[in-house]
Amino acid sequence: MSSREDILALLRQEEGFLSGQELSRHLKLTRAAVWKAVDALRREGYKIEARTGLGYRLSAVPDALTEAEIRNFLGKTTVVGRELFCFDKLDSTNNRAKTLAQSGAPEGAVVIADSQTAGRGRMDRSFQSPKGQGIYLSVLLRPRMAPDCLPPVTALAGVAVCAAVERLCGIRPGLKWPNDPVLNGRKLCGILTEASLEAESGRLQSMVVGIGINVSQEPEDFSLEVREIATSLLQALGRPVSRPQLAAALLEELDGAYAALLSGNLAVYLEAYRRDCVNLGKTVQLLPFGGGSGETAQAVDIDEEFSLIVRGSDGRKRAVRSGEVSVRGLWGYSE
Ligand code: BTN
Repeated sequence: MSSREDILALLRQEEGFLSGQELSRHLKLTRAAVWKAVDALRREGYKIEARTGLGYRLSAVPDALTEAEIRNFLGKTTVVGRELFCFDKLDSTNNRAKTLAQSGAPEGAVVIADSQTAGRGRMDRSFQSPKGQGIYLSVLLRPRMAPDCLPPVTALAGVAVCAAVERLCGIRPGLKWPNDPVLNGRKLCGILTEASLEAESGRLQSMVVGIGINVSQEPEDFSLEVREIATSLLQALGRPVSRPQLAAALLEELDGAYAALLSGNLAVYLEAYRRDCVNLGKTVQLLPFGGGSGETAQAVDIDEEFSLIVRGSDGRKRAVRSGEVSVRGLWGYSE
């Protein structure tokens, strides 16, 4: 650990003031080195009071997606979060995670950015990723599974987002099939899962699960088009939410979901997904990705592969997979 990190750790433990003398003795640093580290921490947004005769006291921490802040809240995980790569700005965390995958980064590595200049969404759409207002992260996974066993991954990521938000904010988002966490009928989060396959064998090499959560955007922070269908936790709750704390809760939930995927014990997640899915029991419009007018159907269930079971106008039930159609509610984005 650097002296900056050591000092931060000691200040976090202490409710009151810690004298400069104590800090320098404990960490075997000169008083000047202590002062320099305190100064560096202040420049990163930590509020550190200094009182003559008393020393230093940490009075506020920044809402920063730095490794130090996230790890401060992160409990023990098995795979997800083994390594954290935190950036101020990236084009896309999915792009960076894919590059890291090619250079041999370990499974469970997470790329996080405070802003994205070219955040990517499904179907070649973009994902608005303004600085300091969201959580934009991608997890690198290398499951030893056949690619056709993977459709649940993105649904599991959706359930993990719902669980993390519920844990931290006390409200549980719904899931618009296949994987958009929604609050009050508006999109709170986007998930983009990308896989890299070996061309000859079709074997799965790596997978990147990219998640973007809108945390503190006001309506005017979204473009006019997106404003109509998007929301943020700030808008839904009317109070700020700590991004590093939510990011840590999300990594823990993703770690649990990934363990379930590897063990094949998905029953709990399927049950949660069925409860969370806002489309079930409603009339939806199935819009083929290739274009076309689409079809109106009744969403009746979710099957074991997390496909949507619909009853068409001919009265027959069938399963639709997430790559086939996009689902719209009849009266708005999700309903
Ligand atoms: C969608 O709703 O269409 C999916 C949006 C996914 C956005 C996230 S933000 C982090 C990661 N990096 C990206 O470029 N995209 C995903």
